[in-house]
Amino acid sequence: MNELKETKELRKVKEDLLNCKECPLYEERVKGGFFPVIGEGNHQADIMLVGEAPGLNEAKSGRPFCGAAGRILDKLLESAGMKREEIYITNVVKDRPPNNRDPRPEEIEAYGPFLERQIRIIKPKIIGCLGNFSTAFMFNKYGLEKELKGISKLHGKVFSVNDLKIAPLYHPAVAVYNNKMTNVLIGDFKKIKGLV
Ligand code: URA
Repeated sequence: MNELKETKELRKVKEDLLNCKECPLYEERVKGGFFPVIGEGNHQADIMLVGEAPGLNEAKSGRPFCGAAGRILDKLLESAGMKREEIYITNVVKDRPPNNRDPRPEEIEAYGPFLERQIRIIKPKIIGCLGNFSTAFMFNKYGLEKELKGISKLHGKVFSVNDLKIAPLYHPAVAVYNNKMTNVLIGDFKKIKGLV
């Protein structure tokens, strides 16, 4: 089977990320014996989910959302009738911030262009922003700065920019210790699925 054009282009993004020695968390990657987490899923996905940054499990495996938050994400996807293979999952920041601290502005600035390339290649119809950092990134990128509020005010709403829909969502990690949030998240995920 012929390789998709998107797959070829995404491989180049991955190579560039692997070689990005000036990336601000490169030293942490090397020190920890970690992998950068580029993203995974369908290279022609209609839905792209964008998280914040890899945690320890993700950095050890190179796969997005494969720890505790990932187990919740899997539950949310299943409840909404979505499959990981059908969508594309990635993060704003591609290397793990030490001790899982919040990403810094200079890290978002350095890793953001990799995400922008992924969006240009995959051309999703819907971007689900998992949490505040991802939401802020997309709102800034797509001229929605004036609408930017905390995720508790934005989740469940959908913002259209030309043909693209931006959907802010709570980060799945909020449900790790708070079961009630699972139902809120399931409702929002079902809404996204309904947009396709
Ligand atoms: N949290 C994120 O934001 N991304 C991951 O990949 C894992 C946890």
